[in-house]
Amino acid sequence: MSASIRNLDDLLAEGVSGRRVLVRADLNVPLDKQTGEITDDGRIRAVLPTLGALVQAGAKVVVCSHLGRPKGAPDPQYSLRPVAGRLGELLDAPVHFATDTVGESARATVDALADGQVALLENLRFNKGETSKDDTERGAFADQLAAFGEAYVDDAFGAVHRKHASVHDVPARLPHVAGRLVLREVEVLSRLTGEPERPYVVVLGGSKVSDKLAVIEALLPKVDRLLIGGGMCFTFLKAQGHEVGTSLLEEEMVETCGNLLARADGKILLPVDVVAADAFAPDAAHDTVPADGIPSHRLGLDIGPETVAGFTAALSQAKTVFWNGPMGVFEMPAFANGTRGVAEAITKTDAFTVVGGGDSAAAVRALGLDESSFGHISTGGGASLEYLEGKTLPGIAALEN
Ligand code: 3PG
Ligand code: MG
Repeated sequence: MSASIRNLDDLLAEGVSGRRVLVRADLNVPLDKQTGEITDDGRIRAVLPTLGALVQAGAKVVVCSHLGRPKGAPDPQYSLRPVAGRLGELLDAPVHFATDTVGESARATVDALADGQVALLENLRFNKGETSKDDTERGAFADQLAAFGEAYVDDAFGAVHRKHASVHDVPARLPHVAGRLVLREVEVLSRLTGEPERPYVVVLGGSKVSDKLAVIEALLPKVDRLLIGGGMCFTFLKAQGHEVGTSLLEEEMVETCGNLLARADGKILLPVDVVAADAFAPDAAHDTVPADGIPSHRLGLDIGPETVAGFTAALSQAKTVFWNGPMGVFEMPAFANGTRGVAEAITKTDAFTVVGGGDSAAAVRALGLDESSFGHISTGGGASLEYLEGKTLPGIAALEN
C-alpha cells in the first residue's frame, strides 16, 4: 500500500480512548431468502481485528455499512439488524443498533455510547446520498455521517471500488486511516500486480463474460495460464465454433471472445467436457458430454471431470494462483464437482494462492474446504478484480489524500 496511507496503528498510537471513531465496514453478507438468516458471516469476521483493536483501546466505535442494493429508501429486507446481532455474538459484547443511518435513532445511539462500546448504523443505502452521482447530494450525506466521528477508518475492502459517500467523501472530511482488513487485502493483491512468482495461473468463472472482460484483457499479458469455467465459458466455446445448446450465452460477446482467444497465445484453457442438464434445477437429468457435443436441448451447469483433471495439472505447476468465480452451479450438489475439484487443486499446490470474490469465498466455505489452506481469501469481488485491472479505486485514493 502506498506509503502515504496511514493505517490503524497510526491512529491507535495517537490514542483513541473516549474518541468517536467512524468505521466503514463491508457487512454485505448473503441472507437466506426464506428465513432472512445470514448464510455466510465471513465478511463480519473479517472486520473483527479492526473493531476489536478499537474496542480494546477504548474508542466509541460507530460502524456503518451497506447491505444489498436497496434503492435509496428504507427497505426491511435489507436491514442490517441481523448483522448487528451476529456482530455482537462475535465481539462478545452488545452492538447498539440504530434504526436509521443519520437520523434521530442514529444520533441518540451514538450519543449514548460509552468508551469501548460499538454501535451499528442502519444500511447506508437507505439514503439517496450514499450512492448519488451528484457530488453535492453525496457531500451533504457525507457531512451527516462525518458528524458521528472524530476519525474515520476504512475497513470496507469489498466497497473500495465504489465512489460512494461513505467510501469516497467521508475521508475528505475526517482524519482517515486504512483498517487492518484493507491493509492486508492491498498487501496481498499488490503481490499479484507486481512480479508474481511464475508460473502465474488465474482461474476465472462466474456467469458473465462482460463482467470479466476488463480483467481478462489486463491479465492476459501477465499470466502464464488463464483457466476459464463457469457460465462464462460457453460464450468462449461458441466463439470456438461449438454449439452450446441452451447454456448461458452472451451472443454480443462472441466476437470479442474470439478475438481474445486469437490473441491469447494458447494461454487460455477452456473446458473439454461439461455437465449438461435438462433444466436449471437441482434434480434435473444430466450427463457429462464433450464440450463440442452439448445437445441442443441441454444447458451446461458445470465443468466435467476431464476438464478438472486438465485444470488440476496446470495448477499443480503454479507458483502463484488467483481464483475468482465458481466453475458451476455449486449451490446444487449435482453441479458442484467442478468448483470443488478446482478448489481442492488450488489447496494442494505449494503456490501462493488468492481467492477473490464473495461467491468463490462463499463456495470455499459452503463446500467445507479448509480456509487456512488458501494463502488469502479476499472479501472483495468487484474490488479485487478492479485492483488487478490496475484501476484507481476511489476508496483507496481517498485514503491517500
Ligand atoms: C460486494 O458484494 O461486491 C460489495 O459489498 C459491493 O457491493 P455492490 O456491488 O452492491 O456495490
Ligand atoms: Mg459486487
